Amino acid sequence: MAVRAIVLAAGKGTRMRSDAPKVVQPIAGRPMISWVIDAVTAAGADEITVVVGHGADSVVAVLPDGVRSVVQEEQLGTGHATQVAYAAMADPAGDTVLIVPGDSPLMTAESLRALLAAHGSACTMVTTRMPDPTGYGRVLRKDGAVVEIVEERDTDPSTARIDEVAVSTYTFDGRLLGESLARLDSGNHQNEYYLTDVVGMLAAFGPVETIEVDHEETLGVNSHDQLAKVDSVMRRRINAEWMRQGVWMQDPDRVYIDESVILQSGARIYPGVHLEGATSIGADSQIGPDAFLLDTTVGRGARVWYSVLRGAQVGDDVDVGPYATLRPGTILHAGAKAGSFVEIKASVVGKGSKVPHLSYIGDATIGEDSNIGAGTVTCNFDGFRKHQTVIGSRVFVGSDTMLVAPVELGDDSITGAGSVITKDVAPGALAVERSPQKEIPGYAERRARTAEAEGE
Ligand code: UD1
Ligand code: MG
Repeated sequence: MAVRAIVLAAGKGTRMRSDAPKVVQPIAGRPMISWVIDAVTAAGADEITVVVGHGADSVVAVLPDGVRSVVQEEQLGTGHATQVAYAAMADPAGDTVLIVPGDSPLMTAESLRALLAAHGSACTMVTTRMPDPTGYGRVLRKDGAVVEIVEERDTDPSTARIDEVAVSTYTFDGRLLGESLARLDSGNHQNEYYLTDVVGMLAAFGPVETIEVDHEETLGVNSHDQLAKVDSVMRRRINAEWMRQGVWMQDPDRVYIDESVILQSGARIYPGVHLEGATSIGADSQIGPDAFLLDTTVGRGARVWYSVLRGAQVGDDVDVGPYATLRPGTILHAGAKAGSFVEIKASVVGKGSKVPHLSYIGDATIGEDSNIGAGTVTCNFDGFRKHQTVIGSRVFVGSDTMLVAPVELGDDSITGAGSVITKDVAPGALAVERSPQKEIPGYAERRARTAEAEGE
């Protein structure tokens, strides 16, 4: 028997107060619904149909190939959404239908597998115990058997107290589901077609089975408050997994690692670190405190602290920061350094070359073992176009050198501190561009006498 999954994701998410549908809001760097699709796939679904409505296009855009979507034009309730999906499926009667909400990304594949394994004759559902069940459908039992699910707005004082709740996650016999959906009506306080009513109908056909999961897995996202909570649980899981793989974290509650990031065992992560996108960190590298890395690769034994790196490649044993900015296209080869208050973009810094302090390096290539003095700037922009600066190997750039691009410093060349270099410098040469220093002897005394004469 095949497993046909339906993901309910047409709802508006009114309380998010956002134009974007809530199921594409990011959780650990991925759209919420991607986590749901992955769990359903890993649990063994043979086919997935996503019900979309609000912001349908942006939801469909993040669905992987092979996942089908159907549009629920008007959101008339979870039962109606299921009717729309059911009608779009080719003959689901002989199969098991798995239904999950698109806004509960913490539900694990293991729990969904357990649900499928427990699937009985008509309906099996996931329940949980909520410390505060407000807002959830309550599971009403008689002599232990499930009788129906009572929605919040339809509760009375005694059903309102029930802390076992439904979490919109079920398996159904395909045929019985189809027959029950056809009988649904919207005679309730919300004038909606409730999927939960199907459970009540099927309770008459035989026992509705339940499996209970930890309530953390069932947390849904209806507000930014819940989005932050779910995001932090997901990140805690990600961090726990990396620590199992041998990554050291001083305070995992303050480390934010996207699902897409790769760390080698032996990496050391300090608090305040954000690792996003296609970022990877090599063994024995120390990241943080306080660093933001996006689409950045860091080799082995590097140190990156108090810095922002985007689209950069950081080689082995490289030092970055404190307070460095590496922008896209920055490549630091092994043993290089980008020190305090240094900004680098679209530039290659060769092996062992250092840019230790207060510099801007843009559109430049630097050879090996060169040293760039404090305050050096590659003046790459003439107001119209960007130009390249080429610095050879073993070059000594004096402090506060302005390198007006396009310009080239040959291997082993030197520039004098404070020079504005506008012409190429030959290999091994010293280029100084400075007016001669003037000295006026006894000036201090003369100045004091002038002041006295003016009666100051
Ligand atoms: C639903 C359940 C409730 C359960 C709670 C948490 C019903 C009637 N109630 O209530 O028992 O405790 O979820 O899991 O099922 N959706 C659609 N189309 C619609 C309406 C909803 O696709 O017309 C989708 C939403 O996008 C969401 C899911 O269904 O992913 C649940 O909808 P929501 O409005 O959050 O239902 P609740 O009122 O919270
Ligand atoms: Mg809800």
